[in-house]
Amino acid sequence: MNPYWLDIIYLFSSVTFILGLKMLSNPEKARKGNLYAAFGMTVAIFGTIFLHETEHEVQPVNYILIFAALALGTVVGLVTAKKVQMTRMPELVSIFNGMGGACAALISIIEVNHMIEQMDNDPIAQLPETAGAMTGTILAILAGLVIGSVSFSGSIIAFLKLKGTLNKPIRLPKYNILNTAIMIIIFAFAAWILLGGQELSMVYIYALFAMALIYGVMFVLPIGGADMPVVISLLNSFTGLAAAFGGFLYDNQVMLTGGILVGSAGTLLTIVMCKAMNRPLSNVIFGAFGESGSAASREVSGNIKEISVSDAAVLMNYSSKVIIVPGYGLAVAQAQHVIHELENIMVDRGVEVKYAIHPVAGRMPGHMNVLLAESNVAYEKLAEMEEVNPEFANTDVVLVVGANDVVNPAAHNDPSSPIFGMPILDVENAKHIIVNKRSMSAGYAGIENELFYNPKTSMLFGDAKSALTKLLEELKAL
Ligand code: TAP
Repeated sequence: MNPYWLDIIYLFSSVTFILGLKMLSNPEKARKGNLYAAFGMTVAIFGTIFLHETEHEVQPVNYILIFAALALGTVVGLVTAKKVQMTRMPELVSIFNGMGGACAALISIIEVNHMIEQMDNDPIAQLPETAGAMTGTILAILAGLVIGSVSFSGSIIAFLKLKGTLNKPIRLPKYNILNTAIMIIIFAFAAWILLGGQELSMVYIYALFAMALIYGVMFVLPIGGADMPVVISLLNSFTGLAAAFGGFLYDNQVMLTGGILVGSAGTLLTIVMCKAMNRPLSNVIFGAFGESGSAASREVSGNIKEISVSDAAVLMNYSSKVIIVPGYGLAVAQAQHVIHELENIMVDRGVEVKYAIHPVAGRMPGHMNVLLAESNVAYEKLAEMEEVNPEFANTDVVLVVGANDVVNPAAHNDPSSPIFGMPILDVENAKHIIVNKRSMSAGYAGIENELFYNPKTSMLFGDAKSALTKLLEELKAL
């Protein structure tokens, strides 16, 4: 067997990861990109199982265990991913991410055990010449253990928060100082294990494991729901880093590349989301942000105006430009197909139609793009916030479907609002605004929206799917 086969496989897999990631930036190619990367991962897993050379022959029972675990993981992953609703996807991402962190931490624990056994049985391992290499290995083990454990316990808390089981931020007195103190203690303890000169012991490792798990919980508990996507993406980057340390430990290139890619993609996504939600990254790291929706914001009053489906259809039919703003409500109502039909009929009537996509519309990054791509909306029809904002002023009708926070002018003009400073879609500049939602209820940030009281705004109440279906029928009849 060519000793380079496994290296070639790892190189191939790394290329599929990079290609897959690149393709994820385009909704039309994203699905294919995911499949490419999954194929690369499958090849890497089987390559490792069958081609990796070990000192001792692998016992048949180990193969049985490996394949049983693979089968179990595949079935659970497939079933949950198939069953999960699009709106619950962030929960799934956080739990899967937590599993990645747990794997990295468990790898570290197992490797410490190996190392202790090796030191007991092999006097060479104790020589000063090998000490440098040992220190490097222990450093990778400790880093993987701490980062993986924080990511695991933090992701579980994030999962419970998104699920609604833990819906209020829990803040101990001086939680910020407490969290920083725990973090410093963890670093100091890890440094002592690494450099203290005492014998490596599993007791220390378990103590460090427990501390890191506690820190993960304490880190996420105080954070309010509205900022959870930033936390998940940050924890995702932690898991990537922990996996990269695992790759370093095993001298496994594909684990290293995969980990680094996840780590850097997660970090970039965190930065992009922080900008889109106007939350400084330093606040994320120290867990001092994310007041829940109950935060004080200015009272909004005035009259609201309703519009009938037939009037809305006439207004849109005789417009020359309509911009659709999809939000979380469109996703919940699964109205992506009917909105596409609505777009088609307007285009047939000579109306210019676009979709304005806010970076945090919905409940996860790229939520709207994926949803609209699913109903075959052309990619060129999707306009990002910066690109579309100047266009609202010459737009006849903006149709806001189940969106709220991402079009709330309080982000511009109410310094007491929790979303103040968040970039929004400037729909209030359009000539007419039609807002479809079921009631006057608040959105994710839990605050009132003065857009609904704007004299240019008309409310089209009802579930997005049924309201848009009626609108479509009216348009067809015109
Ligand atoms: P939201 O502000 O959450 O507003 C959604 C609106 O949809 C609600 O006001 C709700 O009003 C309406 N709605 C719910 N079900 C509906 C249905 N079946 N038909 C019609 N309308 C329905 O949504 P958004 O404007 O998309 O903003 C997203 C928010 O989520 C932001 O605050 C963002 O920070 C946060 N967030 C974003 C992410 C990412 S990364 N995308 C992740 C987590 C959180 P009614 O109840 O009156 O119908």
